Amino acid sequence: MTSEPIPEKLNVLLVGTGGREHALAWRLTQSPHLGKLWVESSANAGLLELGTACPEEFSLKRKYYLERWLVQEKIGFIIIGPEGPLSEGMVDALASPDRAIFGPTRAAARLEWDKAYAKTIMRQTSIPTAEGRVCTTLTAALAYVTERDEPCVVKATGLCAGKGVAVCKNKDEAIAAVKRCMEQREFGAAGDSIVIEERLEGQEVSVLALVDGRTITLLDTVQDHKQVGEGDTGPNTGGMGAFCPTPLLTDQDLQSIARDVFVPAIDGLRRQGIEFRGVLFAGLMLTPAGPKVLEFNCRFGDPETQVLMARFRGDLLRTLWLTAQGRLDEVEFSFDPRTACCVVVCAHGYPGATTKGQLIKGLIPLDRATADSGVAMMFHGATKAAKKGETVTNGGRVVGVTSLGDDLEAAAKQATASAQSIEFQGAFHRRDIGFRVLRQRQISG
Ligand code: AMP
Ligand code: GLY
Repeated sequence: MTSEPIPEKLNVLLVGTGGREHALAWRLTQSPHLGKLWVESSANAGLLELGTACPEEFSLKRKYYLERWLVQEKIGFIIIGPEGPLSEGMVDALASPDRAIFGPTRAAARLEWDKAYAKTIMRQTSIPTAEGRVCTTLTAALAYVTERDEPCVVKATGLCAGKGVAVCKNKDEAIAAVKRCMEQREFGAAGDSIVIEERLEGQEVSVLALVDGRTITLLDTVQDHKQVGEGDTGPNTGGMGAFCPTPLLTDQDLQSIARDVFVPAIDGLRRQGIEFRGVLFAGLMLTPAGPKVLEFNCRFGDPETQVLMARFRGDLLRTLWLTAQGRLDEVEFSFDPRTACCVVVCAHGYPGATTKGQLIKGLIPLDRATADSGVAMMFHGATKAAKKGETVTNGGRVVGVTSLGDDLEAAAKQATASAQSIEFQGAFHRRDIGFRVLRQRQISG
């Protein structure tokens, strides 16, 4: 390892096309070290305003072409947002002494792409998690849910964009969920084996940490609302809205979580000869018996990153570059003391199939939000640039609207009002992001 300073100008490729990447790109473009920012050719309309589109689809299937293009454009740093390319081994495939890559290798990212493996690591290293079992056949899974008396949760072990989890109230729901995975194969090969675990109760928190192989730096905590309906009802989604920071964990709690969750996870991988670099993200349930891990992700969360980036103060490019270099101890950043709240405006049908191509009205460019703190930041998710400067929908989570406020109530109120101003056919959003914490405050206040 060297202690060379970050290059004066660094050409960066940001992989990923959604709201997380738009928020990251926005902070990256504020770095004095950014040379040229490249984004994927299929990037959303917001990203395409901040970066230059790669000439062709960025896919590992064309590794030879990619390599040549990276060299030709003197790309010195690749930042990978989504789990898909990480699970495919993009970090392994593009590793080179000439460039840094932010994100874990395929082996390290297995903590996310194989929930059965994550459970094994958790068991081996005594990380607190829900009690459960991995089933690889329909018969075994049906027998297990039938013999259990307590409500359970059925999870496809592979990647399903946050939708492969069924939180079941009773046996009938559990049996139906098992059949959807293993008989109807709703999630394809991702559901060929499933984790069935006890249903935990409590508030959820997303704890994200930068990890450089050895050093672990926890970021401020976020709460994401995963269910599509108000009051946390209906099927799971990738995330309908989030806020940061949460009042749910004290600094002391976070130290315990670092010690009991993050350190053992990183050590458990290291014992298998695997080094983790990138973001490790623990989805936690705060149960009466203490925090328990629901899942690990190996990347920035979405919408978590939208609220984290709204509050991030520092040089994001330098932060991620030093992390990728194994030099996290040199990084300096802080968070805006205000609360950020994000409300995701979705297309009708989400988390199921949606209609694309609906004209979006009411979008406000990010530079206006930066100039005037009363204007919400609108990070594009599934949008597409269309003719005559118009922007149309291109999937389920269309735009994330983030506001900063002196407290959660103020931030949530403003984000919800601004989300209302985004218009397209079939648009909907939740109006109760943050309700659990706000309700708790009312009760205790
Ligand atoms: P996961 O992808 O494993 O984080 O699951 C997605 C969502 O399902 C979580 O954010 C929780 O809301 C819910 N969930 C997952 N596991 C459990 C569990 N054991 N008990 C209760 N809810 C859960
Ligand atoms: N919002 C949850 C995730 O990114 O997985």
